[in-house]
Amino acid sequence: MGKKKLRIGIFGLGTVGSGVVELLKRKEGKLGSASFSLEKVVVKNLTKKRDINLSPEILSINPEDILCNLSIDTVIEVIGGIYPARAFVLQALEKGKNVITANKALLATSGSEIFKKAAEKNCYLGVRASNIAAYRLIESLTNSPSRIEKLVGIFNGTCNYILTEMEKTGKPLPDLLKEAQSMGYAEADPADDINGKDTAHKLVVLLGLTLGCFFPLKSIHVEGIANVSSEDIVFAHELGYKIKLLAIARRKEDILEARVHPALVPQDRWLARLAGVENGLEIRDEIGLEIGMQAPGAGKYPTATAIIEDLICIAQGRKLFLSERIPSFNLKPMSEIETKYYLKVYAVDKAGVLAKIANVFGDHDISIESVIQKKIESKKDNLVPVIMLTHRSREDNIQKALRKIKDLPVIKKNPFLIRVEEGIF
Ligand SMILES: NC(=O)c1ccc[n+]([C@@H]2O[C@H](COP(=O)([O-])OP(=O)(O)OC[C@H]3O[C@@H](n4cnc5c(N)ncnc54)[C@H](OP(=O)(O)O)[C@@H]3O)[C@@H](O)[C@H]2O)c1
Repeated sequence: MGKKKLRIGIFGLGTVGSGVVELLKRKEGKLGSASFSLEKVVVKNLTKKRDINLSPEILSINPEDILCNLSIDTVIEVIGGIYPARAFVLQALEKGKNVITANKALLATSGSEIFKKAAEKNCYLGVRASNIAAYRLIESLTNSPSRIEKLVGIFNGTCNYILTEMEKTGKPLPDLLKEAQSMGYAEADPADDINGKDTAHKLVVLLGLTLGCFFPLKSIHVEGIANVSSEDIVFAHELGYKIKLLAIARRKEDILEARVHPALVPQDRWLARLAGVENGLEIRDEIGLEIGMQAPGAGKYPTATAIIEDLICIAQGRKLFLSERIPSFNLKPMSEIETKYYLKVYAVDKAGVLAKIANVFGDHDISIESVIQKKIESKKDNLVPVIMLTHRSREDNIQKALRKIKDLPVIKKNPFLIRVEEGIF
C-alpha cells in the first residue's frame, strides 16, 4: 500500500490561514510519514495585497474549487463567523472530506450538527485550533475513561493581555485593546473578546466534547471585562488576588454549573500567574486526577500549529468523536451558585457609611471578611472607594443586597462586583 497523501484546500488566508500556509511551506510536502499538497486557497478578495507568496493558480474566490474538487480530501476552514463558514464545513463533510476548523463561534452554535455529519460520513473533524489553550487535551476530554468533573480555564488571549498590561502600566482598556489588535490577538469583532462571548464559545465547545452534547450559549452566564479597571486590579492585589476572565464548569452528579466572568483568583494559583496572551486550562476527572495545559490563547503561529496537529492526526488515520452523551443533567441557575465576592462602591466620605452597608449585608445573610477604604487625595466629589470582600454567600442574596446598597443615599455610583474563585480549584 502506498503512503498516504493529503490534498488540502483552505478557506481563508487571514491571520490564521497565512500562518497555516507558512508552516506547510516549511514542512516541504511531508507530515510525518505522509505527504501532502496544498491544492487551493479560497479567499474573499482576490486582489488584496498579501504578505504570503502563492502561485496564482492556487488562489481562488470560488468555493466550488474546493468543495467540488474530488481530489481535495482535507479542508481547513479559517474564515470565521457563521455564514458562509457553516455551509462550507457541512458541504465538505457531506462530500466525505475531512475538516479542520478554528471557528469556535461556529462550533458553539452548530457543533452538534457538524459532529453528527462528520460521524455519519466517517470523516475527521479537527477542532484543536478552536481553543488552543486546550489543544493538547482534546483527546483527554473526549476519550477520558472517567468523566470530567471540573474544567477551569483562561481562554481569551486578548483579555488576558489587557488585564496583564493594565496591572503593569495602568493604561485604560481601549488603548490596550488597540495594542492587542495590532498584534493579531483580537477577533475580527473584538467585542466578542471583551464581552466574554469568545470565552463562552470555547467553554461550550469543550463541554460539548466532554458531555457529548452542545448546549445553547444563552443558557450560561456570560460577563466580560469591560467594567474592570486598573484600580480594581490594584485593590485585588492588596487582597492577595489577580483578576482573570475565567471559564468555569463543574459537574456534581446530574447538576452542571457553567459560567464565564471576571474573577479574583488567589495569586499563588498557576492560572493567576498566566500573563499576557498566555491561556490555560485545568481539568479534574471523577477519580480526582488533575491535568492542565498552558499555551498562547491567540496568534498566527500557535493557532496554525494546532491545525497542523490535526493534519498529522488525519495523516495517521485517527478520528475524533464526541464523548458518549451523558444521559441528562440540569444546568444550575446562576442565582444558586455560592462563592465569595469583591464589591466596590463609591461612598460619600463621612462616618457611618460602612455600618449602613454592613446592615444591608446582614439582612441578606452575607458576612464581610475584609474591607479596604481608600482616602483619595484631591477628590472633587468627596467620594471614596470602599472595597469589601465577603465570606461565601449565595448569588441571589448578593444581588438583592446590591440593589439595596445602590439605593442608599450615601452611595453615589453603581456598585461593582467581581466573584472571588477559590473553591473551584
Ligand atoms: N486570529 C487568531 O489568533 C485566532 C486564534 C484562534 C482561532 N481563530 C479563529 O480562526 C478563524 C480565522 O481567524 P483569522 O484571525 O485568521 O481571521 P481573518 O484574519 O479575518 O481572516 C479571514 C479570512 O477569511 C477570508 N474570507 C472571509 N470571508 C470569506 C468568504 N466568504 N469566502 C472565502 N474566504 C473568506 C478572508 O479573505 P480576504 O483575505 O480575501 O479578506 C480572510 O483571508 C476564526 O474562526 C477565528 O475565530 C483565530
